[in-house]
Amino acid sequence: MFNIIATTFFGLEPVLAEELMGVGANDIQIINRAVLFRGDNEVLYRANLWCRTALKVLVPIKTFQAYNDREFYDLARRIDWQKYMTVDDTFAIDCVASGPIFTHSKYLALKCKDAIADYFRDKRGRRPNVDIEYPDLRINVHVYNSDITISIDSTGIPMSKRGYKVRQVQAPLNEVMAAGILKLSGWDCKTPLTDPMCGSATFATEACMMAMDIAPSSYRNFAMEKWRDFDAKLWGNLRQEAKERRLAKPTAEIAAYDRDPMALDIATQNIEKAGLSDFIDIDRRDFFKADDGAKIAGKFLIMNPPYGERLEDKDEMVDFYRQIGDTLKNRYTDSRAWILSGNLDAIKRIGLHPSKKIKLFNGAIECRLECFEMYDGSKKNKFQ
Ligand SMILES: C[S@@+](CC[C@H](N)C(=O)[O-])C[C@H]1O[C@@H](n2cnc3c(N)ncnc32)[C@H](O)[C@@H]1O
Repeated sequence: MFNIIATTFFGLEPVLAEELMGVGANDIQIINRAVLFRGDNEVLYRANLWCRTALKVLVPIKTFQAYNDREFYDLARRIDWQKYMTVDDTFAIDCVASGPIFTHSKYLALKCKDAIADYFRDKRGRRPNVDIEYPDLRINVHVYNSDITISIDSTGIPMSKRGYKVRQVQAPLNEVMAAGILKLSGWDCKTPLTDPMCGSATFATEACMMAMDIAPSSYRNFAMEKWRDFDAKLWGNLRQEAKERRLAKPTAEIAAYDRDPMALDIATQNIEKAGLSDFIDIDRRDFFKADDGAKIAGKFLIMNPPYGERLEDKDEMVDFYRQIGDTLKNRYTDSRAWILSGNLDAIKRIGLHPSKKIKLFNGAIECRLECFEMYDGSKKNKFQ
């Protein structure tokens, strides 16, 4: 067993920890935007294949403290790089630095590159090449004040790039964030789920994959597949197992609606690419326009309405969110709506008391994920 780190977004750490438990991780420990654990190759491979809320899965190879560039370079050069790559392999370095000591992550990445080049020049008389796009080895340098962790990146392109998003709307939701919100919402994969403002259909696609037990990363490759000690047989078995686990149809009805024909076109293409066209009801609908007066019962709504980024949108957005609240109150009963918004003023205008509030970040935008429950009369309903 060895140490492994799975990274994620702020607020999704507990759901990622739960997912990791499900793939057999040991000694799970939650830290800021990441979860530490221990496991063998099987756990590492399963984490990449099955974790819907991880961005990257890293294997730390060295942790140390450094207080200046020279110390950092010297310690990075002392790593036995031959264990991980040959001089003929290409490599790339991602660096994230925070704190007052190292303020330029690109410069630190350059220092790490020099350390690797000089290590190989000493040992083999020549240096390996850098390939930013398709390296044989992807290295991750994480710096927090003087604490440095150098890891081998088993994932490569972040796991949010599932491979099904061929196009996206102007403010799309990240796939990992959408999956994390579905998990935070406690959706049971049985209650009919609707995203009435679906945009690129990220919620619907992620929900459908969950309800069909589809491995989120079935469609893509991973950096670890190029590792020298990569166990292709084990990986093949795990991929096969994932194929066999896939259900013939989802365990819940899933719908994706939007009023904008362009968004629907994009949603349709993405759902098609994910191979889920037969299982998601896509339709052009305006959330505010009811077809008849009848109340809709027993629904699970999940949505990410526009935030209105321009100052001129302010009043318009307040009205828009008030209309969302009115629609929920007037048209839905025995239903629950989870709303993610980066407009912290406007979401207050929904006019319903949220039963839950969770702070999240959609990129750099601070958001609230709020849950609203609609009942007729008694508060006792199927969600309680
Ligand atoms: C922020 S985007 C949603 C992004 C989406 N979560 C994704 O993954 O791409 C908001 C969407 O709400 C849609 N929308 C706005 N008002 C609407 C309404 N009244 N009825 C239905 N859709 C609406 C917009 O067309 C837009 O596609």
